[in-house]
Amino acid sequence: MTSSREVQLAARPVGAPKPSDFQMADTDLPALQDGQVRVQNLFLSVDPYMRGRMNDAKSYTPPFALNETMTGGAVGRVLESRARSVQVGDTVLHDRGWRTHANVNAAQARVLKDLPGVPLSAYLGVLGMPGLTAYAGLLRSAEFRAGDVVFVSGAAGAVGSAVGQIARLKGAARVIGSAGSARKVTYLSGELGFDAAFNYKDGPVAAQLREAAPDGIDVYFDNVGGEHLEAAISLLKVGGHAAICGMISGYNATEPTPAPRNLAQIIGKQLTLRGFLVTPHYDLYDTFLQEVGGYVASGEMKYDETTVDGIDAAPEAFIGLLAGQNTGKMIVRVGDTA
Ligand SMILES: NC(=O)c1ccc[n+]([C@@H]2O[C@H](COP(=O)([O-])OP(=O)(O)OC[C@H]3O[C@@H](n4cnc5c(N)ncnc54)[C@H](OP(=O)(O)O)[C@@H]3O)[C@@H](O)[C@H]2O)c1
Repeated sequence: MTSSREVQLAARPVGAPKPSDFQMADTDLPALQDGQVRVQNLFLSVDPYMRGRMNDAKSYTPPFALNETMTGGAVGRVLESRARSVQVGDTVLHDRGWRTHANVNAAQARVLKDLPGVPLSAYLGVLGMPGLTAYAGLLRSAEFRAGDVVFVSGAAGAVGSAVGQIARLKGAARVIGSAGSARKVTYLSGELGFDAAFNYKDGPVAAQLREAAPDGIDVYFDNVGGEHLEAAISLLKVGGHAAICGMISGYNATEPTPAPRNLAQIIGKQLTLRGFLVTPHYDLYDTFLQEVGGYVASGEMKYDETTVDGIDAAPEAFIGLLAGQNTGKMIVRVGDTA
């Protein structure tokens, strides 16, 4: 019998989530069925989109149910297999996160390759869903071209840090990022090689962006929405493109958030603002893994992870993610990862 310790949604958060919105549960896993594998999770992902799933609202993914274990990305090791395609000892990426152990349908598990010098947790960040979001959002949705001036918000996070670096490696004329602390700003312009970076908490975003991009921007990659989006619309050049990836500034809002007041500029400047989800872009995954995996392996692309230890700390990691406590990908380490 394998027992799993799991995190359940205890209450739907009002505003920012708090520890009492979560509860821990211990459960014995049922016997494996044909086509399933038993996995011991090593790393769990906590992601901003999960905040939306905590609301009882219709969206592109169904809400988490109260008093049930939540789901999310995870990397784990296979303990037992009743599927031909997956062997005991394989490492798999799957969606039964927020728990220490899981029975997983092998058809929904991706067997991972060990990449020398790259931890398995990278498959939840720079080489996983957030990395692909950056790659597809920049190259497809924003239609980035070499020579573009690119602005990305949430730039020190998992998606944003990849966006800025991919743009730089693919020939951006200038890469500008915003983040929420002086330490993150130093990280962007130092370690990650952004041409300019600013702390959005230091003053109005539009003024800081204008200073960083006096001639305007060609591409805006939006992770934040709100004031950032309004500033970017003002600074986008004629024919500019914005990929609307996320609007985290509104995820904990209890009232409808104000729209950008300058939307009419879309007309005169003939702007393209395109919302996108990563899901339909998984056809790019192998190309992305080869290209971005190459950048990571060669050290041309840097990535950071903020790691929190233990399944009981997963709610705290999620709450911290929404509050900006992470640099790069927020990861929960749950198993013996040696
Ligand atoms: N469309 C898709 O398919 C897709 C897929 C993945 C992610 N996303 C979106 O992409 C964005 C980034 O996701 P991620 O996984 O890379 O998370 P992340 O950026 O690693 O972490 C979230 C970050 O958001 C920032 N933040 C929180 N509240 C903010 C506010 N009020 N204003 C400005 N920044 C705020 C914090 O950094 P600071 O310290 O800088 O405030 C925090 O570290 C999110 O909006 C997410 O929903 C979309």
